[in-house]
Amino acid sequence: MNFVIRVRRAAGPGAHVFWQEFAYEGDESESVAAALRELNARTPLTDLNGREAPPVRWECGCACGKCGACAMRVNGLPMLACKAFLGPLG
Ligand code: FES
Repeated sequence: MNFVIRVRRAAGPGAHVFWQEFAYEGDESESVAAALRELNARTPLTDLNGREAPPVRWECGCACGKCGACAMRVNGLPMLACKAFLGPLG
């Protein structure tokens, strides 16, 4: 299944904030964390417009929903990236 992963980005604190979109082909049962890991494994990582992009910075710890390190907003709601699955989000 094809997804578009839209990431809110900034070069640093106080820097211009912008959205960047990435094409992702995966299974509905994959987590947001798995999708982000796959994006960051790409060399180079390019966005939907073909522009090279720096890796997506985020934190991950236990990868099983216990530590909270991967907490982020997904579709505007607070979620754990390791427990948020692509299918219900699409
Ligand atoms: S990495 Fe620990 S809760 Fe997601």
